[in-house]
Amino acid sequence: MKALEWLGNSLRILDQTKLPVATIYRDVSTYEELAQAIEKMEVRGAPAIGAAAAYGYALGALKYTGDRAGFQDYMNTVKERLANTRPTAVNLFWALCRMEDCLRNLYEEEDLDAIRKTLVAEAESIAEDDRRVNHLIGEQGNPIVPEEANILTHCNAGELATVEFGTALGVVRAAHQVGKKIHVYADETRPYLQGARLTTLELMNDNIPVTLIADNMAGYLMQQGKIDLVIVGADRIAANGDTANKIGTYSVAVLAHAHGIPFYIAAPTSTVDLKMPSGQEIPIEERNPNELRELFGVQTAPAEVPVYNPAFDVTPAKYITGIITEKGIVSPPFSVNLLKMLVRS
Ligand code: MRU
Repeated sequence: MKALEWLGNSLRILDQTKLPVATIYRDVSTYEELAQAIEKMEVRGAPAIGAAAAYGYALGALKYTGDRAGFQDYMNTVKERLANTRPTAVNLFWALCRMEDCLRNLYEEEDLDAIRKTLVAEAESIAEDDRRVNHLIGEQGNPIVPEEANILTHCNAGELATVEFGTALGVVRAAHQVGKKIHVYADETRPYLQGARLTTLELMNDNIPVTLIADNMAGYLMQQGKIDLVIVGADRIAANGDTANKIGTYSVAVLAHAHGIPFYIAAPTSTVDLKMPSGQEIPIEERNPNELRELFGVQTAPAEVPVYNPAFDVTPAKYITGIITEKGIVSPPFSVNLLKMLVRS
C-alpha cells in the first residue's frame, strides 16, 4: 500500500480515513485540497505528512498563473496554508523549510517553468530520502530485536505513515525479512484507531503475525510476560530526547519501564527538533471533540458532553531505552548523543 504517489501534475493519496473497509485513492491537484487532506487525516503519520506537504508546495507552484514578480508572495501564502494544517509533527515544517530553501536558491531564475521543475524535483527528492532512510532505520534497528520476539507498538508508524516501509514497522519488517520470529501486538489507538485500522492491515498484508489489543490491555500483557520489546514512531523529538508521539504512547512507556521492558523510538533524524530544549515546548494538537463523542459517525457519548482530545503526548526521555535512526541507535544521555548523531554524516 502506498500512502502517496506523485503522478507528474497531481499527488495520488490513499484515503486512510476509509481503511480498512475501503481502499480509495484520490488524485489531489491543488495545495488547498492537499492541506485539507492533511487536516482530515486522509494522509497522516509524520514523514508522510512532510512528503505530502512538499508535493503540496510544488502543486502550488504548478498551479500559479501570475507573473514572476508576484510569485514569492504567493508561495509564502502556500507555505502558510500547508504549515497551518497540523502542529505537532515537525516533519511538516522540516519539509516546507527544505522547499522554501530550494526556492530561495532560485531567486535569480526568471523562468517560472524552470522554477516549477526544480521545486517538483525537490519534493521528489524529499520523498526519495524518506524511502531510503526508512530502510536504513530497519537495518539499524535489527540488533535490538531478539531472534524471537513479541513486540508491542502503538498507533501506526508503518508504510502508511511514511513514503515507504515505515519507521517502527520498518524495524519489524526488516527483522521479519531476515527470518526472525516476530509477533506484533498492535494497540488499537483510541480515538482514531490507527493501530486497529492500519497497523494490523499492513502487517497482515505482509504476513507478519499480529494480534490486536485495546489500549487498556497493554499493562496486563506486560504483567503476563507477553511483551519483550516496545517500538513506536515519533512526531517530534526534543533536544533532550523527550518524544512526542500519538496519545497513549506515554502510558505505554511508563508501563514498559515498570515492567523492565525495553522501549524504543524509531524515527528519521529529521524528526529531531533541536529548537525544542525539552518536550514541554512541543505544540500538542487538539482535535475535534466529536472524535470522542462518536465512533466513525455513530454516537457513543452524550452529544453535548465536554471533551478533551489531545492527539499526542510526550514521553520523557528517562523512559526511552534508545532512539533508532537511519544513522544508528542513539542511547542516553540523549542531550549529548542526539547532537553527536546529527553531525555524523
Ligand atoms: O495522528 P497521526 O496518525 O498522524 O499520528 C501518527 C503518529 O503518531 C505516528 O506514530 C508518528 O507520526 C510516526 S509515523 C512514522
